[in-house]
Amino acid sequence: MAAIAEAAALIRAGECVAVPTETVYGLAADATESRAVAGIYAAKGRPSFNPLIVHVPDLAAAERIAVFDDAARALATRFWPGPLTLVLPVRADAGIASLVTAGLDTIAIRVPRHRAMQALLEASGKPLAAPSANASGGISPTRAAHVAKSLAGRIPLVIDDGATPAGVESTIVMGSTILRPGPLSQEALFPGEGRGPAAESESGPRPSPGKGEGVAAPGQLDSHYAPSKPVRLNVTGVTAGAYLIGFGAVSGDETLSAGGDLTEAAANLFDALHRADASAASAIAVAPIPETGIGAAINDRLRRAAFPRG
Ligand code: TXA
Ligand code: MG
Repeated sequence: MAAIAEAAALIRAGECVAVPTETVYGLAADATESRAVAGIYAAKGRPSFNPLIVHVPDLAAAERIAVFDDAARALATRFWPGPLTLVLPVRADAGIASLVTAGLDTIAIRVPRHRAMQALLEASGKPLAAPSANASGGISPTRAAHVAKSLAGRIPLVIDDGATPAGVESTIVMGSTILRPGPLSQEALFPGEGRGPAAESESGPRPSPGKGEGVAAPGQLDSHYAPSKPVRLNVTGVTAGAYLIGFGAVSGDETLSAGGDLTEAAANLFDALHRADASAASAIAVAPIPETGIGAAINDRLRRAAFPRG
């Protein structure tokens, strides 16, 4: 694929390029070059204290960057390549630019499944730092057109390989704690260990007390995924002036999934928010979404989208 070769050349030249993953489109740059990583922050307009996820081709490459214990290796073996990000201690000799970790002694790392991102990792030969390819605080991109609209004129290349299959960002795990809900649910990752991101667990290493405080959710407390108009959640009927995004029995102006399928709904979520944002309506309303499985990730993103902005 010619676009991959061109993208790899840009990466090696220290530029950033947008590339699809199985979750959302990422804005990738060489994680070993601070100047390249600075280009990501500049293009997104992202606060520099928010650390980035590093993408590598396989577990062996990940083990050269981060320190794995048995529990982390078991998760990696089971779920990589795939939408799982592990937060682990960073190796002193990892060679990762300190801008990537924003000065933390841990690193967020994952092995993506998508063919385009895998091809770019192979062709560039570099670990790739890649946040979602949208302007900071904006709605995450699940299509190349979303990236082009959000970052127009700020990046040299978008690799277009269609809509991303999962539609919400990877599940982030530290120890046995889910820091960010995603396509892999609590039940899938830690079967039989209770519910919710903060579920207590006796098995597996837990982050040392206090350590999770500043680290657990950098970038998770702000208003994220913010459309340009107010968002109301759990709406079951037509609301004057609002663009209603339906689910299941609530049909709305469009629906995330008429049949009530949560996986289909996640894949459609950001695309629907982009369309609702671009519509003539003055507000966005969203039908109730069950909190089960990937529904927890959908509701997490919706709550951030609805977060009141000052
Ligand atoms: O699916 C995804 O994960 C996408 C695709 C492109 O791979 N990437 C993504 O990256 O969502 P980004 O930069 O938008 O989100 C990174 C998240 C942030 O919430 C950040 O705070 C957290 O990862 N993070 C990064 N390093 C961390 C660390 N050392 N400890 C805790 N959280 C960390
Ligand atoms: Mg993002």
